[in-house]
Amino acid sequence: MIIIDKVQENYEPLDKILAKFKTNFPQRKNFITMHRRESGFICGLVDMTRPKKILEVGVASGGTTAMILQQLEDRNEPYEMHSVDLNKRLHNEDIGALVTFAKDNNLLAPNVFMNEKHKLYTGKYLPQVIDEIGSNIDFVILDTVHYTPGELLDFPVMLPYLKEGALVVLHDVSLNQQNDPFHKSDAHATVLLFSAVYAKEKFLNFKPETKWVPYSYPNIAAFRVDHTTREAIENVFLALNLTWHYLPSTEELTIYRQFYKKHYPAEIVDLFDEAVKMNLNNVALKK
Ligand SMILES: C[S@@+](CC[C@H](N)C(=O)[O-])C[C@H]1O[C@@H](n2cnc3c(N)ncnc32)[C@H](O)[C@@H]1O
Repeated sequence: MIIIDKVQENYEPLDKILAKFKTNFPQRKNFITMHRRESGFICGLVDMTRPKKILEVGVASGGTTAMILQQLEDRNEPYEMHSVDLNKRLHNEDIGALVTFAKDNNLLAPNVFMNEKHKLYTGKYLPQVIDEIGSNIDFVILDTVHYTPGELLDFPVMLPYLKEGALVVLHDVSLNQQNDPFHKSDAHATVLLFSAVYAKEKFLNFKPETKWVPYSYPNIAAFRVDHTTREAIENVFLALNLTWHYLPSTEELTIYRQFYKKHYPAEIVDLFDEAVKMNLNNVALKK
């Protein structure tokens, strides 16, 4: 079921961490890459679900990470947060640079770092760190490639480690429609994942139309994992049959295949193999 406009957006953690960053780091202009309403949506979902174990895939500077840590600290309930990024550096700074800045300047409670409530994993694909992170994850923010196969590869990796009822937030679920000067109109890996995944609850908060953006559909969405999500996971593998935007390296494909082989039935691995073979053979990708 699609649930529209029911998430109570919360802007307090965003405003709080932004004020701290602006005061302590005046020379920097951008702290949070997500739009204000998108950040409010995430924090609203955190309020709604009170997560204990959060997984973030796609960190960049770590502005969103710092915002969520601020909220979790303010909630004063036990939690652990794990942030994974394939890169070690991006745009001339370390991945998670803002989290490190927050730590070095005491912008967040010291126990966030001392007790290792937050862990950052960089330079690795999700299948390479998910065992270390472990199961019982109850909240996910997935914000990585946006192009196929991209996020479609990672959701089946996290799924066996997600608790029943876990909330999965997908950013850039309408990036392909935004006439973004950087992203192309086929930046639709998350659109596809949100459509293909089966879940009894899918959340969207519509936004008011404006002169510049004449539609209400948001660029962020979430769904709640239930038993049907696992039973219908082949839908996500079938979505890999669309022509991919890019061909992952042989190393990457091997890492993901090994993971699927360990966690999914042979028929699912067959679907993955066929999608790989078709895309490797697709002339549109052989440039
Ligand atoms: C759009 S940025 C994330 C922005 C971040 N969520 C925020 O709100 O500031 C995408 C990030 O995903 C990372 N990334 C790309 N492919 C990835 C993959 N397969 N696994 C993990 N991270 C990936 C990039 O290095 C980049 O830091």
